Amino acid sequence: MLKLLSFALLGTGALCDVTTGIPDSAPPGFEEFISPIVLPAPPVKGTADWASSVQRARAFVRGLSLAEKINVTTGVDVMGRCVGNTGTIPRIGWKGLCLEDSPLGVRLADFVSAGPAGINAAATWDIDLIKARGVAMGEEHRGKGVNVALGPMTNMGRQAAAGRNWEGFGGDPFLSGVATAATIEGLQSVGVIATVKHYIGNEQEHFRGGSESAQIYSSNIDDKTLHEVYLWPFAEAVKAGVGAVMCSYNKINQTQACQNSKLINGVLKEELGFQGFIMSDWAAMINGVQPALAGLDMNMPGFVGYGIGPQNDPDPSTATNSWWGAALIEMVNNGSVPESRVDDMESFLGNYRNFPGLTLLTGHSNDCNMETFSNGELVNEHINVQGDHFKLIREIGAASTILLKNTKNVLPLKVNNIKRIGIFGSDAGPHPEGPNTCSTGKPDHGCDEGTLAMGWGSGTAYFPYLIDPLAAITEHIQSIDPTVVIEGVLDDFNAGSQTAVASLADTCIVFVNADSGEGYIPVPDTPDGNMGDRNNLTLWHSGDDLINNVAASCANTIVVQHVVGPVLVEAWIDHPNVTAVLHAGLPGQESGNAIVDVLFSDSPQATNPSGRLPYTIAKQRTDYAADILYTSSMTTPQITYTEGVNIDYRWFDLNGITPRFEFGFGLSYSTFAYSGLQTVHVGPARRAEAATSSAPVVVSSATASTKSTSASGSLSVTVSRSASVTSHTAVSASVSASVSASASFSLSASSSANATATASAPPSLSSPVGDIGGPAALYESLLTVSFKIQNTGHTAGNEVSQLYLGFPASRGEPPKVLRGFARTMLSPGQSKTVTLTLRQKDVSVWDVVAQKWAVAKGTFKVMVGSSSRNIHLEGTFQL
Ligand SMILES: *[C@@H]1O[C@H](CO)[C@@H](O)[C@H](O)[C@H]1NC(C)=O
Ligand SMILES: *[C@@H]1O[C@H](CO)[C@@H](O)[C@H](O)[C@H]1NC(C)=O
Ligand SMILES: *[C@@H]1O[C@H](CO)[C@@H](O)[C@H](O)[C@H]1NC(C)=O
Ligand SMILES: *[C@@H]1O[C@H](CO)[C@@H](O)[C@H](O)[C@H]1NC(C)=O
Ligand SMILES: *[C@@H]1O[C@H](CO)[C@@H](O)[C@H](O)[C@H]1NC(C)=O
Ligand SMILES: *[C@@H]1O[C@H](CO)[C@@H](O)[C@H](O)[C@H]1NC(C)=O
Repeated sequence: MLKLLSFALLGTGALCDVTTGIPDSAPPGFEEFISPIVLPAPPVKGTADWASSVQRARAFVRGLSLAEKINVTTGVDVMGRCVGNTGTIPRIGWKGLCLEDSPLGVRLADFVSAGPAGINAAATWDIDLIKARGVAMGEEHRGKGVNVALGPMTNMGRQAAAGRNWEGFGGDPFLSGVATAATIEGLQSVGVIATVKHYIGNEQEHFRGGSESAQIYSSNIDDKTLHEVYLWPFAEAVKAGVGAVMCSYNKINQTQACQNSKLINGVLKEELGFQGFIMSDWAAMINGVQPALAGLDMNMPGFVGYGIGPQNDPDPSTATNSWWGAALIEMVNNGSVPESRVDDMESFLGNYRNFPGLTLLTGHSNDCNMETFSNGELVNEHINVQGDHFKLIREIGAASTILLKNTKNVLPLKVNNIKRIGIFGSDAGPHPEGPNTCSTGKPDHGCDEGTLAMGWGSGTAYFPYLIDPLAAITEHIQSIDPTVVIEGVLDDFNAGSQTAVASLADTCIVFVNADSGEGYIPVPDTPDGNMGDRNNLTLWHSGDDLINNVAASCANTIVVQHVVGPVLVEAWIDHPNVTAVLHAGLPGQESGNAIVDVLFSDSPQATNPSGRLPYTIAKQRTDYAADILYTSSMTTPQITYTEGVNIDYRWFDLNGITPRFEFGFGLSYSTFAYSGLQTVHVGPARRAEAATSSAPVVVSSATASTKSTSASGSLSVTVSRSASVTSHTAVSASVSASVSASASFSLSASSSANATATASAPPSLSSPVGDIGGPAALYESLLTVSFKIQNTGHTAGNEVSQLYLGFPASRGEPPKVLRGFARTMLSPGQSKTVTLTLRQKDVSVWDVVAQKWAVAKGTFKVMVGSSSRNIHLEGTFQL
């Protein structure tokens, strides 16, 4: 059905126009990185549970004039009540859609919560908390009248310094995929459409593109890497039923993301069977016809570019300063875009299907979108939508805090053991200009003043309040013993005052930070300010000096980092007086309370830390697989992903580089023992056999590892040796055949699946193309991996266990990849069995020749541990 067409085959004069599909040429040396043209745009199929909604949307669209249809596809302006507003259809009372940032809350609104950043959600490794965060954000968007929330963000953090990494879920596609899906489920469960972004390869801010950018980089990504790393979380989003996707500013293989027909028509809509709509990032379009044919469905915010022409055209269907609007009517009339394509752009209205309370034709009682008047007065502004979300924000703040060092168990603290405490650093205190303004006047948190609880840019929200650490620690200590001496030195640079206080204190806590954000704001506002991406991976405000100065005169120096991503800690991490380090990320409005819960065992909500790094902390910047391209004279700077699938920890493993703190690392106040690894085949290819035998088929040989103590931490784990389980039963090769058959893009019935596969296959294996998220078989369970964890310490706490797989050799896979995790609460002495499920997709590789996923055949290594390098149990299974 979906073909690669040469221009000669297109048949109409209009399609031969240079604006309709010829990709930009590649500069010398990059010729292989050219995106093919994939036409026509596959219409929404209305498969699975989307059927009735798509039908409903089609019926709705059938009754509209072309001008009315155009109003649904094109934004009005950015001065409306929301950052994105579609036109309306007054004839039938359709009030249009409100689209609003951000991935951590409702942007630019009052009486909303400002919760933890995406990167902190990921650092909890807790699917329930991540989903609860999604629900809370959804309730606030919904309460403000937002139809389409512009999150989650799920770019991969390829470069440690990339400005917007903190909006997303870290450096591993599996972790990002789980977090993305859980966030979407949460958001959409309360009737808001989620938007997964930025599709795709939007991995740095420098030269990212958009109307203000003279240079737009091309992310050159090979097919295997695209599928196995960067697309993975988007596929999980589609599988989770995400209603909207946002294409990014940058180019991929020379072609701008919002008109990349291979990626939109070919990958998103055909291969992943996406049934929702894809919108442009704000002013990311650089052309009108090409995006329409490439499958783009909505032009946001409507105008041609920031500062270019009128920015506020009230009627999209007549708007002339737009790539679409009136121009899209002309494109239909002159034959360059079929009207059926415009109809298809609105099939997304079917997204209303499962969203309670929203209907096609009514407005919303809200701040953000539609006005409700009473006697001519607007009555529904300033609605308070916070509910009790502060509780969840505090819980996630503590649950996402990662304990990196804890010499001689100096943490947790007890107020009764402290006589005199010093608190250091501007990051411990309030913002001098208030939590939502900058002394430079920059908007969107474009400064690093006071304690850092979110980055800057469009991915933000206004704080209703921001609890700073000094205030929270003071309040907590005083609630137990008001006679403790508490001295705060908030000046980062006054070494004398720091020393004076540190040398008298028995306990010193140093707060440091590192910030980043979106490229339109330089921070600090100086010529060498950070243009979104960080210029370095070290602490801001001379944090290294601050720590070393305090540690020089305080034998118990505890460091707390509020950082957007990995920070190099070599300048002080081994200092004997730096006794403990907490990596708290960007916790949001309850920051101070959350850190008190982790620091103090006598806090009413004391929390044993269980956060784990969602990325690697290297010893030096050059250890990472890739870095930011800061300078280029090319119009299209070329960023080639030469490391392939080996980003983050995969690169360190592959090249034998020792990180300072590995991916997945985090200590606890307790200790845990792992035992009893079992791998059981449960998948479709076994179902027939399982019916004749009630005993589970064990396909692994489990051996207990002796590598039980982390080199970099004090977590000691006792591993009980489990009996080796033997029965080796190879999984039938028909699994691979059936996955491949259903992954085929052919519309004909699966031809290559053989009798065995068909007989034992679940119905989804034979479903036609258009399965949501790719062939349904990929998401079928194949194996379960189970093991026992026991809390062998004296403190109750959560243990985050992680499952890594080593693929059969010569499949081009990294030494190990994350494929499962769980956060399990255990009281002292308690044991629990953890069972993780592997889907067919989790043991498959993308076959670039066959253009489908195929189960990797051979011997898999199973590694279960408490980080990517602290593996406690190992086993194997055969496929
Ligand atoms: C980009 O180019 C690489 C190398 O030729 C190719 O493997 C990949 O499929 C291309 N991707 C897109 C989206 O064009
Ligand atoms: C398009 O939307 C605008 C803005 O809401 C509205 O004023 C106009 O009447 C709409 N046009 C049509 C044809 O419905
Ligand atoms: C059709 O109209 C569009 C929008 O004005 C324009 O960009 C395109 O060049 C036109 N194509 C032809 C073949 O006239
Ligand atoms: C790193 O960047 C920050 C923020 O611009 C700056 O404060 C700091 O001095 C820089 N560090 C080094 C070592 O240059
Ligand atoms: C550690 O702190 C003590 C003060 O308690 C100080 O005398 C000592 O020199 C410090 N150690 C280092 C290595 O700075
Ligand atoms: C189906 O596949 C299985 C496993 O590879 C094989 O043993 C069997 O012979 C095949 N059957 C047919 C009809 O091709």
